[in-house]
Amino acid sequence: MSNPSLLILAGDGIGPEVMAEVKRIITWYGDKRDMPFDISEDLVGGCAYDKHGTPLTDETMAKAQEVDAVLLGAVGGPKYDDLDFSVKPERGLLRLRKEMDLFSNLRPAQCFDALADFSSLKREIVAGLDIMIVRELTSGVYFGEPRGIHMEGNERVGINTQRYTESEIARVARSAFELARRRSNKVCSMEKANVMESGVLWRQVVTEIHEKEYADVQLSHMYADNGAMQLVRNPKQFDVIVTDNLFGDLLSDAAAMLTGSLGMLPSASLGLPMANGRPKALYEPVHGSAPDITGQGKANPIACILSFAMALRYSFDAGAEADRLEAAVEQVLADGARTADLLGPDGGSPISTTQMGDAILAALDASL
Ligand code: IPM
Ligand code: MG
Repeated sequence: MSNPSLLILAGDGIGPEVMAEVKRIITWYGDKRDMPFDISEDLVGGCAYDKHGTPLTDETMAKAQEVDAVLLGAVGGPKYDDLDFSVKPERGLLRLRKEMDLFSNLRPAQCFDALADFSSLKREIVAGLDIMIVRELTSGVYFGEPRGIHMEGNERVGINTQRYTESEIARVARSAFELARRRSNKVCSMEKANVMESGVLWRQVVTEIHEKEYADVQLSHMYADNGAMQLVRNPKQFDVIVTDNLFGDLLSDAAAMLTGSLGMLPSASLGLPMANGRPKALYEPVHGSAPDITGQGKANPIACILSFAMALRYSFDAGAEADRLEAAVEQVLADGARTADLLGPDGGSPISTTQMGDAILAALDASL
């Protein structure tokens, strides 16, 4: 049997810095846990545009389809703000999601106890928080047609289309119900059925799938605006939240702040099973390329490292090793290791990206 294969697309901004720490963790698993991976690396986003004039070449796209999992850092930066829409760095990421058909985007928001005082919300609201946002990732207003900017009379009109088919809603709903069964067995579905037909259909399909296949799971529905409010009012009422592409984008950024820092949130984007039984998969931190701190050794590598933990869990059937890595992260935070984004109101002196990597590797060694 050959080693499992990983394609690393570190991307732009702080992507390469945080991914450098992930690579050390991957090496550790090869050396210390006898879990070697075959790694290849390539470009995505602005760096791919600079070299090839496109944010994702066909060759890289083909490679992504072949590997067992893709690890992505971040894409984008101010340098690319004025590029045509079709070649913006973000298009590279969107093409990967679409062509790999990664319809189920798992964004866990967990508040580590050591960071409960760092959230902008009160400790008692966030301590012990453990929720999972399941965001539909391949359809909705991100991809709907028609789209574009055109002239009507003497003024410009911008158009995007929110569009969902029944089967698109059904498959992401199933993935949310499946996850809930392995957690606290509760799903809250969010849409705007009060104003959008796509929201009405969303609610109908989620309700039907629930009745037919998952009646054992507790299901509730919420309008997404109320959901945003509830998420900051009392986030612990939720277990799994399932929602569309755009609402999921917004709600997951809000949820990130509950955990203390955007630098903490990993994600997994999963599609259909491949021939080897593993799902098509891409893992990436929820944070972006953070151009303001790029190249300064300030970035927090934890979101990217926890994304690799999700890869261990969801692609490589190594839940115990994922637990080990998550426990190592929890340990270093409990010991007081803080990158700049994790300094609380009282300040303190931050450690660098690499030092955070060192601390996590030391905690992994100590776990053996
Ligand atoms: C995310 C990001 C992306 C999105 C951007 C970079 C295209 O915000 O993954 O949440 O909007 O989906
Ligand atoms: Mg986003």
